[in-house]
Amino acid sequence: MADPKIYDKVPVKVSVEAGKTYSWCTCGESSKQPFCDGSHRGGPFVPLKFEASESKDVWLCNCKHTKNPGYCDGSHKAL
Ligand code: FES
Repeated sequence: MADPKIYDKVPVKVSVEAGKTYSWCTCGESSKQPFCDGSHRGGPFVPLKFEASESKDVWLCNCKHTKNPGYCDGSHKAL
């Protein structure tokens, strides 16, 4: 499997809404980070869709190397 592009080495805080579905970019090529804009098409990556269970602020991964997709787990510190 190809390595995703490192979009940024810091996470981004996002306010998610309960019941809303989000598509987290896994390839690192999207211009709408941290979310998918379709740039993965034709490559090995697909976005990660998730539904927020509650309305809250979350830190989403921008380096695309987290072990807890799509949330920051600190992996960016080792890149
Ligand atoms: S930004 Fe990717 S693990 Fe923190």
